[in-house]
Amino acid sequence: MCGIVGIVGNPNTTEILLKGLEKLEYRGYDSAGIFVADTNSNQLVKTKGRIKDLREKVGTELTGTLGIGHTRWATHGPATEINAHPHTSTNQKFVLVHNGVIENYQELKDTYLAGIALESETDTEIVVQLIARFAEDGLSVKEAFKKALAVIEGSYAFALVDKADSDTLYVAKNKSPLLIGLGADFNVICSDAMAMIDQTKQFLEIADGELVTLTADSVGIEKATGEKVERSAFTAEIDLADIEKGTYPFYMLKEIDEQPAVMRRIAKEYVTDSGEFAIDANLLATMQASDRIYIVACGTSANAGWVSKQIFESLAKVPTEIHLSSEFGYNLPLLSEKPFFIFLSQSGETADSRQVLVKINELGYPSLTITNVAGSTLSREAQYTLLLHAGPEIAVASTKAYTAQIAVMTVLAKALGEKKEIPEAFAFNLLHELSLVATGMETMISEKHLIDELAQAYLKETRNAFYIGRSVDYYVSMEAALKLKEISYVQTEGFAAGELKHGTIALIEEGTPVMAFITDAATAAHTRGNVREVESRGANVLVIASESVSKADDQIILPNVHPLLTPLVSVVPAQLIAYYATLQRGYDVDKPRNLAKSVTVE
Ligand code: M6R
Repeated sequence: MCGIVGIVGNPNTTEILLKGLEKLEYRGYDSAGIFVADTNSNQLVKTKGRIKDLREKVGTELTGTLGIGHTRWATHGPATEINAHPHTSTNQKFVLVHNGVIENYQELKDTYLAGIALESETDTEIVVQLIARFAEDGLSVKEAFKKALAVIEGSYAFALVDKADSDTLYVAKNKSPLLIGLGADFNVICSDAMAMIDQTKQFLEIADGELVTLTADSVGIEKATGEKVERSAFTAEIDLADIEKGTYPFYMLKEIDEQPAVMRRIAKEYVTDSGEFAIDANLLATMQASDRIYIVACGTSANAGWVSKQIFESLAKVPTEIHLSSEFGYNLPLLSEKPFFIFLSQSGETADSRQVLVKINELGYPSLTITNVAGSTLSREAQYTLLLHAGPEIAVASTKAYTAQIAVMTVLAKALGEKKEIPEAFAFNLLHELSLVATGMETMISEKHLIDELAQAYLKETRNAFYIGRSVDYYVSMEAALKLKEISYVQTEGFAAGELKHGTIALIEEGTPVMAFITDAATAAHTRGNVREVESRGANVLVIASESVSKADDQIILPNVHPLLTPLVSVVPAQLIAYYATLQRGYDVDKPRNLAKSVTVE
């Protein structure tokens, strides 16, 4: 979603802004712009399209020591140059960038901006006009900004510049992410530390409702009440090499290939050689005292939640529900007496999940965030955090975060099960099993050429497809379908194999691709029965089967691993199928249309 960068006190401002925006490209956007100022000139450049287009438009002449930049993912108004940020007030005094959604923009417009002709269709322009309006009433820039913040409802990260002052940047946030980076003789702001990691590793968090005044050598943080806030910096543990593609053509392929290493890292981070768990004892005690686990997540993280439900119920014998954040927040189910909430989120910034966490905190229930991003909003606001240790995930299509989430959930379920003395939790050695998983993933990854050919044979021409399976294979089918549809645009359903005959089988016609997961002896015969049913109606069936239940003409054979961990291996060919099908169709694998990596609006 929208990304913000800004800098004050650096003569290399233009290049730092453009490079920062390039690093934020992965979040998803459809237009971009920068504003650069110094004492002699103020210049604004915006464009629809990519940062490379913006770079060309900027050219080499734009210089200054203060600037703000933005990537926009359209919400209010289409992706056009006029709607791109930064936005300028009609009196030409202020320039603003914004990430988030202003909910009461119409009311603000009607109440305060009568007679002002707006240039764009954005909610952001309302804010910059509002600040200008308050400043015209005689308020200082900071007071005008503060007054605007007091009447604005919604989510935002703002960076504001007064064109007459090229030494000061004003920023504020509510619900949307924004960090301050501390440079040597300059300071920066960014939606994500990745954007400025080549400038500094020292970052400061901003809390919701705070206003920050930033100069080259000072950071003034204050609450809405005016009370000053002192805060220590933290060191961002991001390695620049982790956010480069290296020799890979796409991040998605790199991230698929990294999965075996991520499994080994998770084992190392969370389990000692003697089998003890490196997990906060208070977290386990709180979970033990609860009577039900509620996993709340979106998209791929929700799909990882489905697999984890089975793992928790099997190893820790605790009833576990999985809920979509966007549904849960506004339709709270009847909760158990002692609920425990787990928020699964790669980015830790997903607005749908965050609104649930805010509610859960208000209700006083304990919560855990499992995320890939240390210091992210969901991590800061939950009682406990466990990190995925997957390294930055850049491709919009989540791959290594999915498998990392399942692996970390397994660690947690086993630790809880052992604490509760559940026999099933003691029945296997997790270090050994995760090591087998890593090797199994490597086997699948080594079969890329075969999977490329299968994608060509089954998916090249099709407009729709199905993944089917039963039990945990059904859960993996949902993730496999999401992967394929979000990047290749093939309309794909992940379906419970046994449910097809209750209606959906009507969609099967000559040549419809149906990819079936068969990994479990208990359901294999039944799923094979469903495979025959769709074959009889013309489906083009591809079977992905575990070795132990495979048949001679199955197309993809998965190495056997612990039954609870099978999804970690079975999802890999599905990720590769999605990757190759997308390449064959000529689409950008890493940046699918309409999507954002970090979904910071509800
Ligand atoms: O950062 P999160 O895990 O909270 O993100 C949730 C979803 O937006 C995300 O998984 C999305 O579905 C991906 N595009 C899937 O590949």
